[in-house]
Amino acid sequence: MKLMIMGPPGAGKGTQAERLVKELDITHISTGDMFRAAIKEGTEMGKKAKEYMDKGQLVPDEVVVGMVKDRLSQPDCEKGFLLDGFPRTVAQADALSKTLDEMGIKLDGVINIEVPRERLMARLTGRRVCKQCGASYHVIFNAPKQEGVCDSCGGELYQRSDDNEETVSNRLDVYEAQTQPLIDYYSERGVLLNINGDQDIDLVLKEVLGALKK
Ligand code: AP5
Ligand code: MG
Repeated sequence: MKLMIMGPPGAGKGTQAERLVKELDITHISTGDMFRAAIKEGTEMGKKAKEYMDKGQLVPDEVVVGMVKDRLSQPDCEKGFLLDGFPRTVAQADALSKTLDEMGIKLDGVINIEVPRERLMARLTGRRVCKQCGASYHVIFNAPKQEGVCDSCGGELYQRSDDNEETVSNRLDVYEAQTQPLIDYYSERGVLLNINGDQDIDLVLKEVLGALKK
């Protein structure tokens, strides 16, 4: 399956993506994770991306589009993929559509995780992420068995530098201004699957899998 998952910061895209790619045996492509990997490696692209990410702004379209194009041409995408956090602007969506047309690929569905804005601040400021495997936890809503340690790989958990109140608030504004228009974009193309993200993590997953079967 060729899928995309969208929703505001903290909606649970990463949390659901982790589970969905296992269930469906497809490749997870998260542009946020790719930028964080580039920052860790200290590449030029990583340094540039960090300036935008720390302010809660979007990295320029041309940087992201080029990166995703390269990623989609890798052999592990042939079995199917789940795009997480891309596209985020209409320009990115148009570029993706062109790239997929050129590759002869059709998107099977766009999963849109809906969560009211007032829930998102607490989700993000309490998030902890595994340094090793990227798994996402929450100090209250999805606590690891042992504090600070990843359940699945034993890696150390850390707090993302953009998960502070000020940056989260900017990220939510940027989402509403630049990414929300994609809901209509994909709805008009008949591929949008609206999912209630304001329920238990397992129930969200169940709703997504049910919607994909239809
Ligand atoms: P990115 O890493 O994609 O961040 P984001 O979109 O802000 O989304 P998050 O990863 O914060 O949230 P999520 O929906 O994955 O939530 P999660 O599952 O972790 O992007 C970061 C930055 O990179 C951007 O700001 C931008 O600068 C740049 N960037 C990336 N892509 C780009 C692009 N295409 N173009 C330009 N710039 C780009 O869950 C959040 C928390 O909630 C966790 O603690 C989790 O445990 C908890 N939780 C999850 N589900 C539930 C539930 N059902 N109930 C209770 N708690 C839950
Ligand atoms: Mg994420």
